[in-house]
Amino acid sequence: MSARVVVVGSTNLDLVVTAPQLPRPGETVLGEDFRTVPGGKGANQAVAAARAGAACDFVGAVGDDEFGVQLRASLVGSGVDVGRLRTVPGASGVALIAVDRSAENFIVVAPGANGALTDLSAEDRATIAAADVLLLQLEVPMPTVVRAADWARAAGTTVVLNAAPAAELPAELLDLVDVLVVNEHEAATVAGLVSDEPAALLDALLERVPRVVLTLGARGAAYADRRGLRLDVPAPLIDAVDTTAAGDAFTGALAVSWAERGGAVSEESVAASLRWACAAGAACARRPGASTALPERTAIDALYDATYRGAS
Ligand code: RIB
Repeated sequence: MSARVVVVGSTNLDLVVTAPQLPRPGETVLGEDFRTVPGGKGANQAVAAARAGAACDFVGAVGDDEFGVQLRASLVGSGVDVGRLRTVPGASGVALIAVDRSAENFIVVAPGANGALTDLSAEDRATIAAADVLLLQLEVPMPTVVRAADWARAAGTTVVLNAAPAAELPAELLDLVDVLVVNEHEAATVAGLVSDEPAALLDALLERVPRVVLTLGARGAAYADRRGLRLDVPAPLIDAVDTTAAGDAFTGALAVSWAERGGAVSEESVAASLRWACAAGAACARRPGASTALPERTAIDALYDATYRGAS
């Protein structure tokens, strides 16, 4: 049977410009091409999980504008169940994104309808309870994130929180998290600690949550849990063209693998889940765009085999 993943999160239409370099504050640069791409960390992670092989539900909100129509259609087209996706009056979420020639980006989000996701219902609660894993990010209101996590904990659904965009987190949320997924910047914000040392960040975060996955971009990922398990996983070597949504691909695939393997049952299963997630993130970074770049399971498997076959 497929893993069941539910995402409670955001959906944005990404307005993407490529440019030779990113502007500094106050600077104007001439860009190259412009595209609109369905995105939003929540929707990206839902699409990532569905393409990675999960049965995936999405709980979120779009506006009653043309962007909302596109965003809903994109989720449906990727096989995500949108039975819990609301359409609310007003504008959909929008992200302004610039990507440079070294695949770096900046992103500014106007939340729009995502800010209206404040009314989780009994049907949402049942959807969360039926899932193996609840995936959360921080682009919808914090009380909604906390309530969803609380319901998941009560139902025995594993809570995976990708604390992006970076924010300080209330203790009531951290107490409900089973697996925290953060990059170095997000880790420093959550931990309240500035350090270049992944080990120091992991130590600080383990005081707040039982398991931490630290994403390190082209350097791969590190893992630590309160049982004392520590892992470092290198990333596949690729030519990155756009790192937008690479973290979403990683997190969606991690959730699927985690559910398929029944959680952090052994060092081998945690290592395999991290490698598979790294393969998903790298496969995403090889292609431009957010949802358009999220890899299918076959592409993740191919990069996993090419990179890690024989690894123990
Ligand atoms: O993680 C990438 C996403 O961040 C983009 O799709 C954008 O919408 C923002 O939410």
